[in-house]
Amino acid sequence: MTANSAFRSRQWFGATGRSGMAHRSWMRSQGFTPEVFDGRPVIGIATTWSELAPCNVHLHRVAESVKRGVWQEGGFPLEFPAMALGETLLRPTAMLYRNLLAMEAEELMRANPLDGVVLLSGCDKTTPGLLMAAASVDLPAVMVTGGPMLNGKYRGTDVGSGTAVWRFEEDLVAGRMTQEECAFAEGCMARSNGHCMTMGTASTMASMAEALGMQLPYSATWPAVDARRYETAQRAGQVAVGLVRQDLRPSAIMTRAAFENAIRVNAAIGGSTNAVIHLLAIAGRLGVPLPLDDFDVLARDVPTLLNLQPSGEYLMEDFCYAGGLPAVMRELAEHGLLNGDAITVTGSGIGANVADAPCWNREVIRAVAEPFQPAGTGTAVLRGNLAPGGAVIKQSASSPHLLKHRGRALVFDSPADYYAVSNDPGLDVDEDTVLVVRYCGPRGYPGMPEVSNVALPRKLLLRGVRDMVRICDGRMSGTAYGTVVLHVAPEAAAGGPLALVRTGDWITLDVPARMLTLEVGDEELAARRAQWQPPAPHASRGWTRLYTEHVLQADEGADLDFLVGASGHEVPRESH
Ligand code: FES
Repeated sequence: MTANSAFRSRQWFGATGRSGMAHRSWMRSQGFTPEVFDGRPVIGIATTWSELAPCNVHLHRVAESVKRGVWQEGGFPLEFPAMALGETLLRPTAMLYRNLLAMEAEELMRANPLDGVVLLSGCDKTTPGLLMAAASVDLPAVMVTGGPMLNGKYRGTDVGSGTAVWRFEEDLVAGRMTQEECAFAEGCMARSNGHCMTMGTASTMASMAEALGMQLPYSATWPAVDARRYETAQRAGQVAVGLVRQDLRPSAIMTRAAFENAIRVNAAIGGSTNAVIHLLAIAGRLGVPLPLDDFDVLARDVPTLLNLQPSGEYLMEDFCYAGGLPAVMRELAEHGLLNGDAITVTGSGIGANVADAPCWNREVIRAVAEPFQPAGTGTAVLRGNLAPGGAVIKQSASSPHLLKHRGRALVFDSPADYYAVSNDPGLDVDEDTVLVVRYCGPRGYPGMPEVSNVALPRKLLLRGVRDMVRICDGRMSGTAYGTVVLHVAPEAAAGGPLALVRTGDWITLDVPARMLTLEVGDEELAARRAQWQPPAPHASRGWTRLYTEHVLQADEGADLDFLVGASGHEVPRESH
C-alpha cells in the first residue's frame, strides 16, 4: 500500500504538520514501527470484553487471533473496548444499555482513524448493539461472535445454561430438588468460556449475524474454547482487510434479502423472540423496510429443523458437531427458502457459501422433509384490541393446548407485585387464569427486561400444572419456555390497552387466528382510559431519562428515535 492510499485513515496518519505528527507520534508510544502509517488499511477491533460480562471474557484472546489475520493480510489492527453488557449482572436489564453500546461503538468507529472493523461480541445484547453501530457508520465490517460454552453436565445429563435455571427453580419450589443439589447444579451449567449454549438469544443472534452475511460460515457454532473459533477469528482479520480493499460495506450485505434470510433461519433454528426486536432495530439503522408482520409471514413456510433446547433436546456443541448453521441454511436453500444471492463478508452469495455444507447428525439438524417441528410453529405475530401494535408468541416454546385459550385475567403492575403473592396458597388462580404482568416494556420497567415468563403460582406447581397463559409487555429470555405472549405494543407505560385490563376481565388468545382480544367493550375501555394515569418518570437525569424519553416501542425495535438511520463515516474535522 502506498502513501497515496485513499483509505480514510490516511486523513489522520498521512497528514502533514502538527496534526499528522500528533496522530502518529502518540501511536508510536505503543512501539509500532513507522511502516504501519504507510497507508495500509487500519482495522479496528471492537471488543466487548469485561470480567463483568462473563460470556465475553475471552474476547480479549479472540482479538489476538484477529490481529494475526489483519497483519497477515497487510493491515494495521487496533483493538478498542466497547461497552460490555453482561446479561446476568446488569440491572434493571442489559437491554436498557443495548442502544448505549450501539451509540458508543458508532461514535468510536466514526471518530477514529479506522477503515474497517471487526466486531467481537457474545452475550445477548452485544451482538445486536455492535451490528446497529456498524450499520449506522457503514464502514466495512465483519463480526466474530465468541461462541457458545461447552454443554453443561449435571449428574450424567446435559443441561443447558438458562433453560436449566427455570427447571431447577421450579423443581426447587415444587420440592423435587434440594437446596444443596441446586447449589451443586449451579457449577455444572456454565463450565467454560462462551455464551449460553442453548438456542437462547446469544446463540440466536450469533446465528442471525451469520445468516445476515456479517460473519464467516460456521462462526456462530464453534464452541468458545474450540481452536477453530480462533482460526475463524484469524480468518476474519484477513477478511476485514479484504472488505476494505473491495469497499464492501454492511449496507451492501444487510439488505432486505439478507433480513428475509435471517427471519427464515430464525424460524428454522427455533430462535429467540428477541431476534424480532434486534433485527427490527438493525434494519431501522439501514433503512431496510421490515414490518413486524414479516416475522410471521416469512416464517410460516419454514419448519423448525433444529432439535435444540429450549424447544428441543440438544445444545450448541451438538449443533456444531452436526454441521453448524451452514447445514441448516443448505436445507433451506434446497427448498427455495433462502435468498442465495445475498452477498456476505466472504464476497460470495450465501447460497454459494452453504451449497456443499454437510450434515453429520440428522437427529440434531433435521431435514425439511422430516422436520423437528412442522412449518407454522415458529414465532407468531398477534394483533387485536389488546395489542394494536402487535405482540409475539413463540409457539415452539408454548403448550399446544394453550394456543387457543379463553380465561379470566389476573393482573399485576410489576413482576414484584406478582411474586409477592405467587406462593400464597389462597391466591385466586387456576390453570385457566391468564396472568397479566405489565409496565415491563421499554419505557415501563425501563428497558424491557426478560421477566415475562413469570414462574407459575406455587399452588399450581404443586398440583402438577406446568404451563399457563401469561401476557406481558416485556421480553422473555431465549432460553425460556412457556405459553407467554410478549412484546405487547403499545406497552402499558405508553398508555397501551394493556394498561386498561382489570382482574376478572375475559381474554381470548387465538394463535391460529393470530388474535389477542380483551373482551371489554369500547365504551368501558374509554371510561377506564379517562381514569388512567401514566406512571411517574423513572429518572430525572442521565441515560435512563434520555432512554425513556426517546425509546421506540417493541414493534419498532426499541431503538431510540434519534438513532434510527445512519450518519455514515465521513471523517470529522481536525481535533487540534
Ligand atoms: Fe450471556 Fe446467556 S448470559 S449469553
